[in-house]
Amino acid sequence: MPDTEHQGQKLPWHTWPGRALHSEALGSALRKICPPSLRPKAGALRARLFPPDRSQVFSSIYRNATWGSDLETVSGPGSTLEETAVVRQELPGLLRRFGARSLLDAPCGDLYWMKECDLGDVDYIGMDVVPAMIDAISQQLAAPRRRFLVGDIVKDDLPKADVILCRDCLVHLPTPDVIAALRNFKRSGSTYLLTTTFTDRTDNDDLPAAGGWRPLNLVHRPFLLPDPVLVLNEHSRYADGAYPDKSLGLWDLSSLPL
Ligand SMILES: C[S@@+](CC[C@H](N)C(=O)[O-])C[C@H]1O[C@@H](n2cnc3c(N)ncnc32)[C@H](O)[C@@H]1O
Repeated sequence: MPDTEHQGQKLPWHTWPGRALHSEALGSALRKICPPSLRPKAGALRARLFPPDRSQVFSSIYRNATWGSDLETVSGPGSTLEETAVVRQELPGLLRRFGARSLLDAPCGDLYWMKECDLGDVDYIGMDVVPAMIDAISQQLAAPRRRFLVGDIVKDDLPKADVILCRDCLVHLPTPDVIAALRNFKRSGSTYLLTTTFTDRTDNDDLPAAGGWRPLNLVHRPFLLPDPVLVLNEHSRYADGAYPDKSLGLWDLSSLPL
């Protein structure tokens, strides 16, 4: 499929916002012309021609505020100021300690809490798979050391950074996509990965599709990452403190057996 252009950025076909409209138009046309008995087959054809992709799934979650209609942020209950208090306090020092001059925040969500972090002179790139959200935050928050990209961590080329922060995202992806994203992080040539892991879990479940949620411990099967260089417990109070082990683990990407 050809690349497409969206607000000056070249986007691969699968992230082009207009693609969803074609899928919806085809679905509605098929519903009108198909007798009811053929509709399941027509639905299968539509799914084959236009498989739902991560951009569509997470754009719909963003558009409908599925994770945050009653919250201060559309990025969900893990991204409130209360839930991110520890991360906001510790992240700048962690970046200094590991000599980081560049940070790829992938995904960045709506930047609700990150914009409150003083990253000093670290070059910041925020990336997310939802074009409309990237458009909105680019207009409000782009600055000389802060830029934004539309991209899918599972399959798109990623800029090389000293640290990739991937907070609260892999938990929303099916296991094969988690593994592909971890490989993609390593392939970017970046140095460290700082990502969400639940340190007390011993089993990792799969998800049937992108957009659900389950806790993951990345040192256990099927990921089998080595112990992280550092663990930052977030002191989560979400769901009455049901996830006291929710943490960010820091890995040296060159050490990952992927
Ligand atoms: C729960 S939010 C977390 C956002 C941010 N990291 C934070 O801590 O607030 C999850 C974000 O992941 C994005 N996302 C999901 N799958 C993605 C993918 N494959 N590539 C890039 N972004 C993705 C969603 O659009 C959403 O903004």
